[in-house]
Amino acid sequence: MAESLSQSELIKKQYRDSTNLRARGDLHQQFGTNKHGWFDWVFDRIVVPNNGRILEVGCGHGLLWQKCIARVDPAWTIVLSDLSAGMLDEACHALDKLNATGFKFEIIDAQNIPLEDNTYDTVIANHCLYHVPDRPRAISELQRVLKPGGRLLATTVGEGHMAEIRDLIYQFDPRLLEQDKNVQTGFTLQTGKSELDALFDTVHLEQYNNSLVITEINPLIEYVCSYVNMDIMSPQLDRLHSFLSNEFQQMNGEFPITTQSGMFVATKAKS
Ligand SMILES: C[S@@+](CC[C@H](N)C(=O)[O-])C[C@H]1O[C@@H](n2cnc3c(N)ncnc32)[C@H](O)[C@@H]1O
Repeated sequence: MAESLSQSELIKKQYRDSTNLRARGDLHQQFGTNKHGWFDWVFDRIVVPNNGRILEVGCGHGLLWQKCIARVDPAWTIVLSDLSAGMLDEACHALDKLNATGFKFEIIDAQNIPLEDNTYDTVIANHCLYHVPDRPRAISELQRVLKPGGRLLATTVGEGHMAEIRDLIYQFDPRLLEQDKNVQTGFTLQTGKSELDALFDTVHLEQYNNSLVITEINPLIEYVCSYVNMDIMSPQLDRLHSFLSNEFQQMNGEFPITTQSGMFVATKAKS
């Protein structure tokens, strides 16, 4: 059984580098039914003036920008930030390899942003806010650095997201889901608007229509291991492998999964 770690220790462990995030992203990319990919869908919602200034908090290994690099206007200034130095390092190397210009990289905790007031046209928090312990403080920091009229694009998931996989994990060992409750708290598609309403002029939700149909067992096993922070030395791994293989066979090798993801677009008042 995993040792008992605090929320911030679990988040640091989960995101010390991109390994876990990649396993989860690969499952969506490989088996998602919406062929307009998630990152393009997010990028579609970035609306900035010429010479626009963009800040992303919790950027991970910078996949949004790697995937959409051909759409990035070289006149933009883009600050990519994350709490994890490992993630930020990977983002920096990957974008360097793509000869991307206009990017700056900073280790920043979304709860305490060392940037000036009223300086960004768009702030992005893509699947990040549900990890932040003091969310009211983080939301007020995101609002503070936005220019008047600027937009926060805050993505998250719904309460039924990946429900079938969580059911499987529960059947295997309910204790494994306990730590997930600590890593991901609140700020769902159902609750996020009420957390943003007080500080923004307008807040509206846009939903991304998608689902998964998983037809290969190994990406499913990798997803589950990443989700519960199980490492390859875990004595439970063999048992998990045979449990999932058995379930997968019972589904005749075609496992449909519900996804619920979307974005709150929150606009800061003009004055
Ligand atoms: C689910 S990943 C999303 C990464 C990226 N936005 C993406 O969609 O690929 C969440 C990211 O938020 C970062 N994170 C967690 N807590 C944070 C905080 N308090 N401030 C800034 N980043 C944080 C993690 O290190 C991780 O890289």
